[in-house]
Amino acid sequence: MNRRYRKTVIAGNWKMNKTLSETQVFAEELRPLLSRSKWCDVVLCVPAINIPNAVRLFKNTRVAIAAQNVHFEDHGAFTGELSAAMLREQGVKYAIIGHSERRQYYGETDFTVNRKVHAALQAGINPIICVGESLEQRELGVTLEYIAYQVKVALAGVPMEKMRRIILAYEPIWAIGTGQTATAQQAGEVCQSIRTVIRKLYDARVARAVTIQYGGSMNAQNAAELLAQPDIDGGLIGGASLKAADFAEIINAANQET
Ligand code: PGA
Repeated sequence: MNRRYRKTVIAGNWKMNKTLSETQVFAEELRPLLSRSKWCDVVLCVPAINIPNAVRLFKNTRVAIAAQNVHFEDHGAFTGELSAAMLREQGVKYAIIGHSERRQYYGETDFTVNRKVHAALQAGINPIICVGESLEQRELGVTLEYIAYQVKVALAGVPMEKMRRIILAYEPIWAIGTGQTATAQQAGEVCQSIRTVIRKLYDARVARAVTIQYGGSMNAQNAAELLAQPDIDGGLIGGASLKAADFAEIINAANQET
């Protein structure tokens, strides 16, 4: 992390977990643990149906509520989908865009990711754009090229002045939900390469200010080491965000890093 230049953001991605009553229990457990949260931003990406209640439950705390997906059109015949404006009106501040599970199971591509990024920005929602390579790609040695491609397509047409609202999340697919974390060095290397891509696309100032998260089996045990990498400015945390105590430990690890 480098908190002199950019925000540290710890985001929990609940995926398809937690009913409303479980969300209420989590909020009661997490709220008292947040008091030590000094400067890192905390985000919770909850199932869409629980967004309005989560916004209410975390009112007047440091926790911003996020969506796990957003549609790229602003309205229309898209059964089952939610527009960025609908989410924004319910108090959503961030949206995950292009998570590898959505790419794998719901046909999202780098081009739909790009459209969603524009839709979110238009509505005033901050995109958390996920990129990451498969195991085959890592083994073939094409990780950095592939990630550079994903970042370039995701950000196509995004003007420089909107870049302060963008978060990038590097999530190697082989590390998600597997318990196999990228080493701090592997994660740091890719996050640094993402910053280089941003510098080439925009300029050094934009690159220095952009928040880049790591995600993939991040937990209370390995968070401090990952966050100590200069180009890792936070985490997108799945499994370990489901227990308030574990999530709070990761937030505290981020607050303790210098
Ligand atoms: P995980 O998920 O922490 O359970 O690996 C991370 C993510 O998919 O965002």
